[in-house]
Amino acid sequence: MDLNVIVLGPAGSGKSLLTENFLVYLRDRGYSSVAVNLDTASPPRYEAFRDIRDYVKTEEVMDRFQLGINGALLKSMEIAGSYVDRLAVSGYDFVLYDTPGQLELFLFSDFGIELIERLEGFTAGLFIVDSSRIKDAARFSAMVSQSATISLMLEIPSLTVFNKVDLHVPQSIEKYRSDLENEGVLGEFFECLLRFIEVTSMVYRPVLISARNGYGFDDLFSALNELFCACGDLS
Ligand code: GTP
Repeated sequence: MDLNVIVLGPAGSGKSLLTENFLVYLRDRGYSSVAVNLDTASPPRYEAFRDIRDYVKTEEVMDRFQLGINGALLKSMEIAGSYVDRLAVSGYDFVLYDTPGQLELFLFSDFGIELIERLEGFTAGLFIVDSSRIKDAARFSAMVSQSATISLMLEIPSLTVFNKVDLHVPQSIEKYRSDLENEGVLGEFFECLLRFIEVTSMVYRPVLISARNGYGFDDLFSALNELFCACGDLS
């Protein structure tokens, strides 16, 4: 089976650590699994089966085109567009794609969409949220609504994955809703936003994990299972 998992999320949310440790988790359970690094700016800590940096390195793009870091990141994605065929992997149970630090580089570039179009089998997104940054309902809503943008832009189902729960466990949607009940116009606004989140990003249940210690990996695997194969089990 070809199950492609696109690991997406804001800078520092834990995409690379999840890729590294979930890869080990999958292999330990007997699934043939590989990881592909799509971040042109930094080398992966894990052994990447394919590495975008073999074709384009952001630091070299900065030098060659005399660009600052943001321009170079965008240019790197443009150049990477020529190598989509080499980066799309098939023939494994799971292929984990670790995307660039800045979510928008993958989300709003032709590269991201072209890569996904090129993949064989099932493809799903994991939108990684840094739970330690969710201090209130406003930040929860802002973070999680990005998951809806992913499904919309990339046309793939995506799971919202709350990472770093060893540091902080986010509250439930119901709790955020009750926190804002008596907040007037602001409360109404958040009520609409939360409802939007429930029918878009939370179509598939959210998953709580720690990429650091592996907490929740069984649940993540089950949630992927539900997503990929509504008719049965992956094993
Ligand atoms: P960029 O691609 O560089 O933007 O980051 P990333 O999203 O790949 O995050 P990365 O895996 O590099 O993790 C960022 C930092 O968070 C690192 O210091 C990780 O060790 C730490 N981190 C990631 N996941 C967890 C977690 O579950 N718990 C804790 N405590 N730290 C974590």
